[in-house]
Amino acid sequence: MIPELSNPSVCMKDPQRVQKVLQSIAEAGANKLQVISDFDMTLTRFSYNGKRCPTCHNILDNSRAISSECKQKLADLLKTYYPIEIDTSLSVEEKLPLMVEWWTKAHDLLVEQKVRKDQLAEAVHESEARLRDGYEFFFNHLHKHDVPLLIFSAGIGDILEEVIRHFNVFLSNVKIFSNYMDFDESGTLRAFKGELIHVYNKREGALLNTGHFQELRTRPNVLLLGDSIGDLNMADGVQDMQNILKIGFLNDKVEERKQTYLDSYDIVLVKDETMDVPNAIVLYLTGNK
Ligand code: TMP
Ligand code: MG
Repeated sequence: MIPELSNPSVCMKDPQRVQKVLQSIAEAGANKLQVISDFDMTLTRFSYNGKRCPTCHNILDNSRAISSECKQKLADLLKTYYPIEIDTSLSVEEKLPLMVEWWTKAHDLLVEQKVRKDQLAEAVHESEARLRDGYEFFFNHLHKHDVPLLIFSAGIGDILEEVIRHFNVFLSNVKIFSNYMDFDESGTLRAFKGELIHVYNKREGALLNTGHFQELRTRPNVLLLGDSIGDLNMADGVQDMQNILKIGFLNDKVEERKQTYLDSYDIVLVKDETMDVPNAIVLYLTGNK
């Protein structure tokens, strides 16, 4: 049906279910569809030329806005907590307090650095941040068909916005839920706004944003894209959901995590740095137009 589903990176536990869901969503039409996507390592690349690509946090951590001493502390946090984030031997309940700890410590360090609002664009311009190959089609096609795209990120909203602006895809159908910085009158970071979003509380984040999902209640079909097990909860606020198709990028620790991903995502993309499969799917869901 969709030739890209035979790409070597594609793994599916139940291809027949995938076909059925795709068909139902396509038949209902683009005006019944909404797309919900994670950002870091889902819309952005995991690696490029053998080197890891930065997350929103990393973009800032590696920039001139941060002292070298603080860079070391942030790197140590990453070294401690990232293996926990992706550890399959721990339950989400066990990881939860540790993730809150990671985000809280990292955000406290950023506040201590007195980051200025005007340093963010430079940090992004000088970074190695990269969206996945084929991102232009993905964003532009959803925009062309007026399909809302919610980017739901545990990263930093201000940096995320700067990245998609930098790549010219901050289009009118894009909405963002993320951690936003709170600057004082002089433009210096003093805190983060609202409830903290980390990788494993996206369900709570979704339920806090009922207004958005209320507005989209006439769109009961969902295409979800993520790279973490926590991303599976991003659609928990969707009202009157009829169909959902979940695409998961499996970037790291493939062998240990493959079965878990196959059990939770409908389509698993193994070490695939492109948007080829999501693009083929959105094209199909909009009647190949
Ligand atoms: P996402 O929800 O857009 O994927 O963003 C979350 C990612 O951010 C998650 O994979 C861990 C990463 N992260 C860092 O790289 N550095 C940090 O200091 C923190 C708190 C998170
Ligand atoms: Mg991610």
